[in-house]
Amino acid sequence: MAASVEEIRMAQRAQGPATILAIGTATPSNYFIQADYPDFYFRVTRSEHMTNLKEKFKRICDKSMIKKRYMHLNEEILKENSNMCAYWEPSLDARQDIAVVEVPKLGKEAAIKAIEEWGQPKSKITHLIFCTTAGVDMPGCDYQLTKLLGLHLSVKRYMLYQQGCFAGGTVLRLAKDLAENNKGARVLVVCSEITTMIFRGPSDTHLDSLVCQALFGDGAGALIVGSDPDDTIEHPLFQLVSSAQTIIPNSDAALKLHVREVGLTFHLLKEVPELISKNIEKPLAESFNPIGISDWNSIFWIVHPGGAAILDQIEKKLDLKPEKMRASRHVLSEYGNLTSACVLFILDEMRKKSFEEGKVTTGEGVEWGVLFGFGPGLTVETIVLHSVPTGAKK
Ligand SMILES: CC(C)(COP(=O)(O)OP(=O)(O)OC[C@H]1O[C@@H](n2cnc3c(N)ncnc32)[C@H](O)[C@@H]1OP(=O)(O)O)[C@@H](O)C(=O)NCCC(=O)NCCS
Repeated sequence: MAASVEEIRMAQRAQGPATILAIGTATPSNYFIQADYPDFYFRVTRSEHMTNLKEKFKRICDKSMIKKRYMHLNEEILKENSNMCAYWEPSLDARQDIAVVEVPKLGKEAAIKAIEEWGQPKSKITHLIFCTTAGVDMPGCDYQLTKLLGLHLSVKRYMLYQQGCFAGGTVLRLAKDLAENNKGARVLVVCSEITTMIFRGPSDTHLDSLVCQALFGDGAGALIVGSDPDDTIEHPLFQLVSSAQTIIPNSDAALKLHVREVGLTFHLLKEVPELISKNIEKPLAESFNPIGISDWNSIFWIVHPGGAAILDQIEKKLDLKPEKMRASRHVLSEYGNLTSACVLFILDEMRKKSFEEGKVTTGEGVEWGVLFGFGPGLTVETIVLHSVPTGAKK
């Protein structure tokens, strides 16, 4: 007797929740100390004469709570591409030429680390999700990475271009659906971000662009996600329990980026931290009501650090204890805003510190956690995470 559609459907699906099985991160070798960056930035863009603007930029850098940022762009590259140092000169070709090569390359470094930690042959990877805000090309970064890593030619690929900062949540939402709906799936997730598209000289009429120049850094994060791990050879880190995406009401103009001949332009209203903090409790409650949790200090927190003010205002609004934002603030401080890759760096930081400090779970010793992505729209991604035991004794 032929199998029924229902039987086939059941056989295609995994049993358990999607689980993060490994994490890898990478940055370019070149970095800037934030305290020195205003001098570099105004020198390389030949804007030393804009003294008031430089003072303002110093104030923004000071308040950013960022210590260090990694960047592929350096003085030599910027000197060769002087239009990228102007505020508004055609420069898209030069930016694209760098991005289409460097984004997959940086992604590859993070992916290799994740695959090494996972410890399984790369032929077991069934799906690839690649996400970047920098550059658009065909065939895309997903194809380039498949070739660079030597993945199976039949790996099923998903390319997310130009989503912005919230997409660290989007890739987890997609990976969860893929892992749970395809028995045996092992999904390689890669977020690779570089600042080549947004670097530009200062302008005294576009001050939000100056904020952008102070916040963003380069970095790539990679994960292996799969359901029903084989506990003899795989080591679960976090389970992906539920996912949601929403648009914040009346926030249409809050954060926009546009692809122009001059590269990617950045438009940010000062109200963004307030809009996010005022609207965060609703997705939080909707995600945690089914679990019966309403004490926001009882969970662990992985929050996209779009800027220090976003973390500050969420903390204040929800009355969070300062240690709840430790991992998010640490990544902001060490790397700046890494767009979609940021939350993957925070996941990495959280599990490493949890092991280091002998916490009983990968989530700083507690069971449940939340991961938030914020970005253009304003769009909010909410992921409910469940930590796993580290093996440490209470
Ligand atoms: C930028 C930031 C680090 C500044 O820190 P802060 O504690 O708010 O400090 P201040 O309010 O004194 O701001 C410093 C300067 O930046 C200016 N500034 C802050 N946000 C700005 C914006 N969106 N557009 C233009 N200028 C801005 C302020 O006017 C101020 O200028 P001044 O020194 O000449 O008065 C902080 O506001 C922040 O994190 N903002 C959120 C960034 C964001 O929304 N990111 C989302 C991208 S995903």
